[in-house]
Amino acid sequence: MIDQLKKHLAEVADFSSDNPKEIEAFRIKYLGKKGLLSQFFSEFKNIPTEEKKEFGQTINELKSKATEKVNLLKKAIEQDKPGKNIYNDLTRPSEPLELGARHPISIVKNQIIDIFSRIGFNVSEGPEIEDDWHNFTALNLPKHHPARDMQDTFFIQTNPDVLLRTHTSSVQVRYMENNKPPIRTISPGRVYRNEAISARSHCFFHQVEGLYIDKKVSFADLKQTLQFFTTELFGKSKIRLRPSYFPFTEPSAEVDVYWGLESETDYKMTKGTGWLEIMGCGMVDPNVLDNCGIDSETYTGFAFGMGIDRIALLLHQISDIRLLSENDVRFLEQFKSAL
Ligand code: DAH
Repeated sequence: MIDQLKKHLAEVADFSSDNPKEIEAFRIKYLGKKGLLSQFFSEFKNIPTEEKKEFGQTINELKSKATEKVNLLKKAIEQDKPGKNIYNDLTRPSEPLELGARHPISIVKNQIIDIFSRIGFNVSEGPEIEDDWHNFTALNLPKHHPARDMQDTFFIQTNPDVLLRTHTSSVQVRYMENNKPPIRTISPGRVYRNEAISARSHCFFHQVEGLYIDKKVSFADLKQTLQFFTTELFGKSKIRLRPSYFPFTEPSAEVDVYWGLESETDYKMTKGTGWLEIMGCGMVDPNVLDNCGIDSETYTGFAFGMGIDRIALLLHQISDIRLLSENDVRFLEQFKSAL
């Protein structure tokens, strides 16, 4: 009899299952009303006295082991249910944590902001949906001015007064209307032009506008600022200013950075000249100051505007401007290690 009990003890110890039906069958077999244990208990009176003690102890052991086993297996099933107690297992491998990446436009924009903030420029923003005054008229581009054709404009519905801004120069106007000199501000933002989309140009892109207004600001200050900027951003300090025309600045210039001609890409990017055009700039036209409520007799200033997208293409060796707005994760993921 004792041997039989021991055999069952071993069976209980070996039993394992994650199937609720099997566990229940196991429970009934041992612990049920007509189960093995009650049969063994009813045998008790027939056991010779000298064996009673050992028999009693073993049968109790069998009962507690069987009960324990049933509870343990039931609990294990509970824990395996999805969503329950997954944190109990400290050895579980963690869920992979996906880190995002900054967009190359944001990376370059932040670098530009950082450079100008070191020389006292703050950041200002304006709306993308603009009115004629802020985008054109206040900037010395009255109605029918031929220079309006320089930038093909998207108008909102049929109202010629409401448009998508064609440049961030509109923020200059807003800033001057609302702040007194001295002014040192840069304005990053998205702009829109009704242009054919290609690898080199898009109907929307990004610019950073710069504005410095104070007493006695000169063209030399402008050049010095640009020189500092190009050295910081590109690591290149050789620049040249070519005379140009913008209605809102007088005199106006276009700024080229000497990029070099060391590689084939340098050749392609600079069209074999080694020079790269990066922005327009000039001394703010007195008309613009007056339009914005700043006394042009007392104050002078400079302004500049540059495209971020082309600079991002250049710095990150991106071959097609359209990649910047297609939101292809395979492209975006490549900037994980950037700033
Ligand atoms: N707004 C001009 C453009 O979009 C860029 C520009 C040129 C801005 C000269 C300026 C400036 O502030 O002074 O092409």
